[in-house]
Amino acid sequence: MILIQSKEECKKNSTPTIKMKQPKRYLITSALPYANGLKHIGHLAGAYLPADTYVRYLRAKKRDVVFVCGSDEHGTAIPIQAKKEGTTPKAIIDKYHEAMKQDFKDLAMSFDIYHRTSEPLHHETAQEFFTQLNDRGELEIKETEQYFDEEAQTFLADRYIKGTCPNCGSDRAFGDQCENCGRTLSPDELINPVSTLSGKTPVKKKTSHWYLPLGKHEAFLRDWILTEHKNDWRSTVVGQCKSWIEGGLQSRAVTRDLDWGVKVPVKNAEGKVLYVWFDAPIGYISATRQWALDKGKAWEPYWNDKETKLVHFIGKDNIVFHCIIFPVMLKLHGNILPGNVPANEFLNLEGDKMSTSRNWKLEMRDYINDFVKNPDGTDKENGGGQCVDMLRYYLTQIAPETKDSEFTWKGFQDAVNSELVAIFGNFVNRTFVLMHKLCNGKVPPFHNDLIDDKDKELITKITVAKETITASLEAYRFRDALFEIMDLARAGNKYMQEKEPWIVARQATKEGIPTPEAQDQIDNCLHLCLQLCANLAILVNPFLPFTAKKLCHMLKVVDKMLDWENAGSLKLLSVGYSLRAPELLFRKIEDAEITAQVEKLKSGLVKPNDQFTKQNTEMKPEQKPVIQFDDFAKIDLTTGTIIAAEKVEKADKLLKLQVDLGFETRTIVSGIALHYQPEDIIGKQVTVVTNLAPRKMRGIESNGMILMAEDQSGKLHFINPETLIDKGSKVS
Ligand code: 2FM
Ligand code: ZN
Repeated sequence: MILIQSKEECKKNSTPTIKMKQPKRYLITSALPYANGLKHIGHLAGAYLPADTYVRYLRAKKRDVVFVCGSDEHGTAIPIQAKKEGTTPKAIIDKYHEAMKQDFKDLAMSFDIYHRTSEPLHHETAQEFFTQLNDRGELEIKETEQYFDEEAQTFLADRYIKGTCPNCGSDRAFGDQCENCGRTLSPDELINPVSTLSGKTPVKKKTSHWYLPLGKHEAFLRDWILTEHKNDWRSTVVGQCKSWIEGGLQSRAVTRDLDWGVKVPVKNAEGKVLYVWFDAPIGYISATRQWALDKGKAWEPYWNDKETKLVHFIGKDNIVFHCIIFPVMLKLHGNILPGNVPANEFLNLEGDKMSTSRNWKLEMRDYINDFVKNPDGTDKENGGGQCVDMLRYYLTQIAPETKDSEFTWKGFQDAVNSELVAIFGNFVNRTFVLMHKLCNGKVPPFHNDLIDDKDKELITKITVAKETITASLEAYRFRDALFEIMDLARAGNKYMQEKEPWIVARQATKEGIPTPEAQDQIDNCLHLCLQLCANLAILVNPFLPFTAKKLCHMLKVVDKMLDWENAGSLKLLSVGYSLRAPELLFRKIEDAEITAQVEKLKSGLVKPNDQFTKQNTEMKPEQKPVIQFDDFAKIDLTTGTIIAAEKVEKADKLLKLQVDLGFETRTIVSGIALHYQPEDIIGKQVTVVTNLAPRKMRGIESNGMILMAEDQSGKLHFINPETLIDKGSKVS
């Protein structure tokens, strides 16, 4: 086919929108995910789907664009996961790199390259970067005292040190963060620090590291972010940068004492590697280099030419690295700076934060397995591309662009059934069915002399929609753009409903066939509806690529029709051209599917993926050093019954309990609120450490501790006698 529209007509028909100077080329990045586990839909909605949508839009505009991503394979997260799974860091990165790459592919992320930071080209690129900054005197070397494990003979990265949280008293605090209250910590703040490698108390030892003196670049950062990008970057991003800058920019260590990572390319720096947050963003450059090598192109213009627009898509937890630290590195190294960093906030799930340790998450793989693909990689009968597009639709509709948002299965079902099926799919289906029934399966002519106000209104809507959608996409407002597309489909339904071509066909007939006048009216209506279907295909293509392709198939047009410049045109389909029969664009999501998903989530059945968890079963839990019986005998353990429970204000994880010990009732504050509702645990028998010194938590004095067991998914369970026994019984 069959683009009947000439270039000139296209130009005339499509409303020129944004008059700003177009960049010569684009380099788009999505945050490199850590290769330490499968990623969930929060990650997808934050850094990958919006980037993919934007890139598909740029490609449809024929822009020169390279979209890079890859696995972040360094940092302590990798050896820690290896320890958990009882294997080597190399085995971990190989496994998760491949798994994440496949997940992204199955959900149609269209990276030009999905690279990895363990590649020699990346090590070389990162080392060259460091060397250049170091040789130019842009880095400082400082000697500090850091925790050292004498038994393991190694310095301890923050994550390798455990201790008591100075904030909430939990013993689940690490050197960088408390798992219980979420407070960011430094190793020095931990009470009773212990090495997770040996279980021993670490000692302080001197060590030298290279630092990036951010303070020296404050004026540049203020000017660049707080003035130049004050209005075109998201206010959430500018706001976070502002508070970092105003909080005082400290020098940041860019090296670590670790044996996993990119070696520091300096003599006598054995045992030191580049800090993962120094090497990971350089991964964007090495990925571009590899892409260029593969394609026989030059990579340099994408990083050095000011006419390139660099855009980083990330989650909000990565803002400081992409807006402050990496730009300073880029400036010092002589590269271009990001033109925008449209960071997203977080996506919650069914009323709670997504969490890997609590297994409260929906992994991309879970969705793919349940909706998209069979285990052998073929499309599910009811799945495939349409289910990919359904997820893409809902995640864009609820994208956390300005504030945290929430995925619920009911919301997903509503978005699919009430919008994709009932509005978009319904409009396309009605148009095709009626065109086959009333116009012999061919694109009917449009009789200009019969044009009426309703036609004009729809025509205006189509041209205006292109303009609005383009403006929203240019401003990274993907939710708004998608809303406009659905609104256009809604306008199509309304138009069809008002024109009622099936009634016209029934009423104005002669010998059972519509009169010529009636047929003209029917033709006009279905001609416009078909042109609208073609427009919808173009506009929806960046968001729902499978749907756009299916529409092209039904309209018998080549993919070239999807070029963005064609949007807004009313001459996309040639009169008289035979079209295919309608195909179902989206299936309905049944109540039973939703109930099953919610059940699965709540019962903790959504595992990080069976094939990956199986290997964890041999995992040996961390062992503390041996103690003598006398030490154990100092602990008073007593059974008690919870008689009252309530949430603690402003502490997501804490419950205030009244525990009846038989001889007295104790107030105990326990970090179990994420696992139990207060009303569900009244009457539960528990085991209590009754001679623990009182401790204040959130202003409440806690007099004892309830024993809990943590399973492999991170869920807590009470430790209680196998049958109900007297309160106040001694446990030994
Ligand atoms: O937060 C993360 O998952 C990091 N691995 C993101 C790195 S983005 C970039 F710098 F590579
Ligand atoms: Zn804490």
